[in-house]
Amino acid sequence: MESKLKEFQKKLQAIGQSHLLHFFDSLEPSLQKRLLGQVEGLDFAHLPVWVDRYVKNESPVAVPTAFEPAPSYPAVPRDAGQRQQYDQAVRLGQSLIREGKVAAFVVAGGQGTRLGFDGPKGNFPISPIKKKTLFQLFAESLLAASKKYNTTIPWYIMTSPLNHQATVEIFESAGYFGLDKKDVFLFQQGTMPNFDFDGTILLADKDTLASSPDGHGGSLKALYKSGAIADMRRRGVEYISYWQVDNPLVRTIDPLFIGLHVQDRSEMSSKALLKADPLEKVGNFCLVDGKVTVIEYSDLPDEQALRRNPDGSLVFELGSIGIHLIDVAFVDKLNRGDDFALPFHRAVKKIPHIDAAGHPVEPTEPNGIKLETFVFDALPMAAHSMILETVRAEEFAPVKNASGADSPEVTHRMMIERAARWLEQAGVKVPRKADGSPDCVLEIAPSFALCAEDIRDKVERIPEIRPGQTLYLE
Ligand code: UTP
Repeated sequence: MESKLKEFQKKLQAIGQSHLLHFFDSLEPSLQKRLLGQVEGLDFAHLPVWVDRYVKNESPVAVPTAFEPAPSYPAVPRDAGQRQQYDQAVRLGQSLIREGKVAAFVVAGGQGTRLGFDGPKGNFPISPIKKKTLFQLFAESLLAASKKYNTTIPWYIMTSPLNHQATVEIFESAGYFGLDKKDVFLFQQGTMPNFDFDGTILLADKDTLASSPDGHGGSLKALYKSGAIADMRRRGVEYISYWQVDNPLVRTIDPLFIGLHVQDRSEMSSKALLKADPLEKVGNFCLVDGKVTVIEYSDLPDEQALRRNPDGSLVFELGSIGIHLIDVAFVDKLNRGDDFALPFHRAVKKIPHIDAAGHPVEPTEPNGIKLETFVFDALPMAAHSMILETVRAEEFAPVKNASGADSPEVTHRMMIERAARWLEQAGVKVPRKADGSPDCVLEIAPSFALCAEDIRDKVERIPEIRPGQTLYLE
């Protein structure tokens, strides 16, 4: 250990971070080892550049000056020709799923600070009646899709070092929610150290660097480094269906999206929503130098965000919702490149740490910088990128905040409303209140229906729904 210590003292000195070993001598050997392990994990070659470019520089990511709206496929086909194309895409998607060419992938490495839930966010109970967790709903959806297409859809789940163990325990104690353990692949994303404003890495404790997960963009490296991509290759998987853990309405496996992605020879595709208002806090799908690029709401000038077409629609109307289809070959290609890196985004945060005397500091004001990468920043790296518009009420109700917008209460309501709509589309009568909302509590298990069309052959199994009733369908 002595020679390792010397080596890292030297390396840290060279990048102006010697303080990280300041308490080394006061630690017992096991903690010394732990600290050295973390120091060893630092990217010494890039750290000084990152500090200059992203920590000390307040607007590190250049906002493009010339951009236009990105083209997209509408949620509902525009005409008969497009209807035919969508029908073909659905058939293509279905056959690719059947052939085992599609894997499911959820990113669940976030810290979920806004929700303030104790434990991995995927363990948050969300379904209206059975209180199924997000993980359980996704698992049931994949089980149902595997059955529907007579295949096995493997599921890859990205965690972070902060929640990996807890996530594994949740899956173990739930018996993998009925999935075969060998088809569930849990792996961890990377982390980034946290900095104070002048670029000094903070210590969380005498033996621990302050660090946080490197953002959902870290998934593109972690998929490769963890062996997940190699595992997909072994299974013959070619396409990855990507979503984020907080959205229980997501269609985990969508034949239309898969089919259009492949028809269009897209390497990385996205689903998009019409923004609820011009300044909604979602990324905007734009075209920059002919490449699909997401420009963050904070970077899109208001006058652009507010621009309207002659028909009244917004010029930049499409928002990003963290649903993608990604070619396995694309992730492979990125990682085999010389120096694949996504740009970092800088977040000013309150970061608990210890001071130079080793005393804990719990800041009341933001005191430092966290660096994260975003998965959509890989879109311009794709040779081609397709966008499919989807409908918010059908597919997007993220649980982000404890109350207000994007809270569990809103998600519940949207889950019930979607169930009511699906039933009505199949001809079932759903009691509604004077304000139009369902006068009942409904929950449709993925085993009963994965989409509205699945209900049509099951209508005779649905009892009459009375006002105020609670009905669970499985
Ligand atoms: P959010 O941007 O909502 O972040 O993540 P979060 O960490 O979950 O929540 P807050 O901001 O602390 O309240 C969107 C999705 O990306 C995943 C999250 O798990 C969620 O599915 N994510 C985010 C990661 O997998 N890793 C990360 O480093 C960050």
